[in-house]
Amino acid sequence: MSVSSFAHANAVHPDDVGVQVSNVVKSFGADDTRTTVLNGVSLSIKKGEFVSLIGPSGCGKSTLLKVVAGLSEADSGSVTIKGKSVREASRHKAIGLVPQSPALLPWRTILENVSLPIKINPSANAGRALRDPREILESFGLGHAINKYPAQLSGGMQQRAAIARAFVFDPEILLMDEPFSALDEMNRDQQRMGLLDFWQSNRKSVLFVTHSVPEAIMLSDRIVVMAAHPGRIAEVIDVDLPRPRSEAMYASDGFRDLETRVRASLRQVMEAARV
Ligand SMILES: Nc1ncnc2c1ncn2[C@@H]1O[C@H](COP(=O)(O)OP(=O)(O)OP(=O)(O)O)[C@@H](O)[C@H]1O
Ligand SMILES: [Mg+2]
Repeated sequence: MSVSSFAHANAVHPDDVGVQVSNVVKSFGADDTRTTVLNGVSLSIKKGEFVSLIGPSGCGKSTLLKVVAGLSEADSGSVTIKGKSVREASRHKAIGLVPQSPALLPWRTILENVSLPIKINPSANAGRALRDPREILESFGLGHAINKYPAQLSGGMQQRAAIARAFVFDPEILLMDEPFSALDEMNRDQQRMGLLDFWQSNRKSVLFVTHSVPEAIMLSDRIVVMAAHPGRIAEVIDVDLPRPRSEAMYASDGFRDLETRVRASLRQVMEAARV
């Protein structure tokens, strides 16, 4: 059986699974006002696979990311990272998280900010290959800015530094929550292609939250469309565009077909929420 038919049969060999989310339920609130935010979400991300989450505001994308990151505990169901519990994986710094806003410390230089995870977490460093922060910053095109302070950088550069920081521990899994949402369209496209380049040579399992359909298509191997109230997976769309990808791909027929499909799926999800 070929690799692709394995993927389609959804029977991925356990060694090839990066993230396994199984039947996760998560609710918030006191007993009488309790609302279910995630209702039996199951999802598996292969090693080196790029998966995007897209769906209406409030459908639970960030909540799902937090559960996978170990920042929030599910009511039931399970998450494993390469077969290990989230707690164990995060102890070994196997999970890198890029939050929505860059969250850099303003009183530290870019190099200090990116080196910080190593300094504050020496016990997690034992016996593992750490990436050189200078080298990572250079590969993100920030070599000239390492001694600057965040406020001296543009929003796009700050965001790039925040992504660079997530790579310091060379995590197996990268979780990104709308990392480019605060950027203008031109800057956003540039950062997107930069991330794509970097990921191409540093293949990680990625779970990426976005509201942008073209962004999800350009970056992903698969797009998970979520529905709201309660949050659940509505559809998973394979992005079978060749890699490496470039901006020229936006204009291809394959890209446009996928755009139509993802938008139709989102429309269906939004309409279903209204009735
Ligand atoms: N800590 C919390 N306490 C109570 N309710 C919460 C909490 N976190 C999230 N929620 C609720 O869970 C639902 C899903 O929130 P979440 O932030 O996961 O949505 P989202 O899909 O990321 O939305 P957006 O696209 O706007 O970022 C929302 O109704 C939100 O109000
Ligand atoms: Mg969110």
